[in-house]
Amino acid sequence: MMEYQFAVDEVLTKVNILRDEFIHLHRYNPIEHVSSRVKTTTSLVAKMARKHTPPEADAIRAQITDIAGIRITCSFIADTYRVLETLVSQDDIRVIQVKDYIANPKPNGYKSIHAIIDIPVFLSTGAVHVPVELQIRTIAMDFWASLEHKIHYKFDGEVPDHLAESLSDAAVIAEQLDHRMENLHREVHGSAGTRDDSALEDVEDAMITQLWRQLAGNAGPQQA
Ligand code: GTP
Ligand code: MG
Repeated sequence: MMEYQFAVDEVLTKVNILRDEFIHLHRYNPIEHVSSRVKTTTSLVAKMARKHTPPEADAIRAQITDIAGIRITCSFIADTYRVLETLVSQDDIRVIQVKDYIANPKPNGYKSIHAIIDIPVFLSTGAVHVPVELQIRTIAMDFWASLEHKIHYKFDGEVPDHLAESLSDAAVIAEQLDHRMENLHREVHGSAGTRDDSALEDVEDAMITQLWRQLAGNAGPQQA
């Protein structure tokens, strides 16, 4: 399991470098939040049983690609793609699979980019290639997904119809919010988000706060 933790650490370092460099160059932060986890042994064993994975390191590495997981929450949809592209264009990262649930949401409304990447971890015995699952999404998508996750668990996967419908409506509203926020951002910052004018940033912050209040009845998910 150590290899997976090392792989997480490697990717976190890359993400932090990208974030700091971007802020330095553009005075703008495309990454709002980063979290990571390594699957617990209990949950790994359960998944191996489900997938009939033999208890061998190579088989596990090939079949269970979400032991190491990193979730990156971005401000805007454009940033999610930008962060993915920037990461996977690095020479030591190999892309195993990308699922774009932003372009093709799940039937329940779930949106996110999922990428399985392979990253080398250098041990005393040489390099091992470790798969890492990246989930990249906007704040609005993340807000939706965490609530959906809680509801899903509360009802053991059998979400009552009226709640499923309500969640589906909320996903549409979250999408509208994402587009509105991105348009606002473009209007204030220009398309690349590269203008470094802190007065404009203050105006934008005020607009975003106001929008959250309107949309969330004075109860946004976090202080804007
Ligand atoms: P797993 O066996 O769960 O890994 O599914 P999968 O291999 O088909 O991968 P998929 O890309 O569909 O989902 C992987 C992960 O994305 C899940 O473990 C969740 O963290 C997240 N995810 C996928 N679908 C949903 C969803 O409908 N709601 C929420 N809240 N999270 C989801
Ligand atoms: Mg998975």
